[in-house]
Amino acid sequence: MTDLVSIARSFFAPGKGILAEDESIPSATAHLAKYGIPASVEMRRQYRDLFLGAEGIEQYISGAILFSETLLQKGNDKKLFPKSLVARGVVPGVKVDLGTEPIPSAAFGTGSTSPNELITQGLLDLPERLALYKKQGAVFTKWRAVFRIEGDELPTAAAIHENAKRLAGYAKDVQMEGLVPIIEPEVLLDGKHSRARSGAVIAEVLTILFSVLDEQSVDRASIILKTSMALSGSESAKKDTPEEVAEATISALLASVPRQIAGIVFLSGGQTPDQATENLAAITRRAKEVNAPWPLTFSYLRALEEEALSVWKGKEENVPAARAAFLARLAKVSAALN
Ligand code: 13P
Repeated sequence: MTDLVSIARSFFAPGKGILAEDESIPSATAHLAKYGIPASVEMRRQYRDLFLGAEGIEQYISGAILFSETLLQKGNDKKLFPKSLVARGVVPGVKVDLGTEPIPSAAFGTGSTSPNELITQGLLDLPERLALYKKQGAVFTKWRAVFRIEGDELPTAAAIHENAKRLAGYAKDVQMEGLVPIIEPEVLLDGKHSRARSGAVIAEVLTILFSVLDEQSVDRASIILKTSMALSGSESAKKDTPEEVAEATISALLASVPRQIAGIVFLSGGQTPDQATENLAAITRRAKEVNAPWPLTFSYLRALEEEALSVWKGKEENVPAARAAFLARLAKVSAALN
């Protein structure tokens, strides 16, 4: 096994997953605003420290995805975040995409545009940035593409192909630099679609993505896939049971994901903490029943942080109680992997 493959596999240690703490500055600002917390460089440092500095996280997490700003910040322990994580046995990684923009109409040929679809940016200076992030302590990376479901029209084949090409270009650059790539084609929960449509879109996106990764000779063995679960849209009246989610999710993944990848991690995507926990437990059970070929775990942000942020409210005196809420949720999500 190459080093990259063994690092990629190490994230799937029993009961452990990956904490996503990697929101960009605009996303972190919007997220904190939901809890009435004003954003600043220092407030973001305290926000990251609330989670990364919580004692005992290493029981439940094998890795943490940071934002580039956070690689250079210090926790309350006065250590750079990547160093402090490594000292506790948690592997630091970094989000390397530069966010999304509307897809240019040129991608669709003359006469058709897709103002509602997004393309992820960040390939241009990626090799230089990867070399820098590696020096700053990153061992793995993440790139997120976003797909919105709208009836049978979205996502379009053009949007899927262009995002797949960029995800493959990213993964290739990352492997060349000696880092592990997480590829994250997120199919959004927003919308009125059915769970079946969500599963079909996940399978379609992943089928195309893995064929483009093969065309570009990306090594499958050190790839980690970060995926959405197959869920009914947040504006549909349907409330899926965990068993329904598990069945639809595992079927979509079995239909589209090669067995050779290092493993699959799930994003929480706007599910409540309880939903994300219960659905993960049902997915774990289903994967065992059908002998799914890949290791599975979580890589949540919102579902792990929501309860803690409601307690914290940006106030120093609330840190111990907020961390206790975070660790309690981490313990539940970890238990869902059994
Ligand atoms: P959620 O779990 O909130 O969907 O976030 C995952 C992620 O990768 C955030 O950057």
